[in-house]
Amino acid sequence: MKKIIAKFSHKEYPIFLGNNLSTSLDLFLNIYDKKRVLFLVDKNISGILNKNKYNKLIEKYDYILVDSGIESKNIQALLDLINILDDKNFSRDGIIVALGGGVIGDIAALLASIYYRGIGLIHVPTTMTSVVDSCIGGKTGINYNNKVNLLGTYYHPNAIFVDINFLLSLSERDFNAGMCESIKKGLIYNKSLFKFIDKNYCEIIKRDINALEAVVEHSINIKLELTSSDTFEKSNRLLLNFGHTFGQAVESYFKINQNIARHGEAVSIGMIFDIHLAEYLNIKNATKIKKHLSDVLKKFNLPTKISELSKSKINKSTLLENIFKDKKRTIEGSRFIIPTSIGNGKIVIFKDKKVLKKIISSLI
Ligand SMILES: NC(=O)c1ccc[n+]([C@@H]2O[C@H](COP(=O)([O-])OP(=O)(O)OC[C@H]3O[C@@H](n4cnc5c(N)ncnc54)[C@H](O)[C@@H]3O)[C@@H](O)[C@H]2O)c1
Repeated sequence: MKKIIAKFSHKEYPIFLGNNLSTSLDLFLNIYDKKRVLFLVDKNISGILNKNKYNKLIEKYDYILVDSGIESKNIQALLDLINILDDKNFSRDGIIVALGGGVIGDIAALLASIYYRGIGLIHVPTTMTSVVDSCIGGKTGINYNNKVNLLGTYYHPNAIFVDINFLLSLSERDFNAGMCESIKKGLIYNKSLFKFIDKNYCEIIKRDINALEAVVEHSINIKLELTSSDTFEKSNRLLLNFGHTFGQAVESYFKINQNIARHGEAVSIGMIFDIHLAEYLNIKNATKIKKHLSDVLKKFNLPTKISELSKSKINKSTLLENIFKDKKRTIEGSRFIIPTSIGNGKIVIFKDKKVLKKIISSLI
């Protein structure tokens, strides 16, 4: 088992990375009174807990099965959990263990951040998206009014246990959607990660444990590097929004319906959108970068056009409006992250609707 220390300005905590970590997690939890530990477990994964030896662990402590899927990341689900905690008289020195993907992690972390103004939290991420992205960096959130993560806080856990074994049971679609987050980090910030994924895609797709561990460790370190110096997204962390402005416009367009577009799939199209903008802005080699990225995305069956998500007629004006509803827009226009070479990128503010609409047209 590897141990990485996450260092943020006001908090340091360990991230454990390996296979079969249930015993290590149990040991870690031993310092807490049993009554003060509550697992929030993704209902969908209860079937695989036995295989991964987590069933005994959650039964030793207390647990609640929580509905997963994006529909569950809402205010009602949050209120229901608050009521359960209150009914249990869950104490202010209690600790919540989020065992599930990004949805469970985001909602559990938001819950932990507001219940009694903040209780303990441990992430045990079980999807590729949550392992390489959502469990790190301290963002919590729920969707509201069809807007992704409209309500949320910044809140760091006390520890993270990344058990690679969980990734073996993921559906191909969810695995690939999570891989998009690693591809994104590589393309916009770390050439060697991008090259590793490109070169080793066969092993990664086959879920070879060593290849997975390498991608996961690399991705976690990049996310830590970008977020630890910039928790509140004032500078470098913004690079992680590569593909997100248009990606979130696509997610909102489809009313955050996971069956149509997983978050990673929307980001995949969003990255291609951003490179089209880079081409318009005459970034040297943008066309080459677009081709290279598209090739890698295809290897992971990730979409580069909206028609790959839905055959229904697309309303370009609504998509354009969604770009300008983006929560990260500034007064001067919407914010986009464009690559300047593989492994490097920059932030641009852009508002020319004609150009943006033309780019949308080329992605339908
Ligand atoms: N906080 C952040 O910084 C951040 C970053 C990126 C994404 N997110 C959020 O993450 C969410 C998406 O995360 P996600 O893709 O993990 O979604 P998810 O939690 O809905 O999981 C996807 C599916 O995989 C299933 N699943 C979970 N673990 C499994 C396993 N080990 N084996 C088989 N199936 C399993 C789930 O039940 C679900 O059906 C979005 O809400 C997005 O906004 C947050």
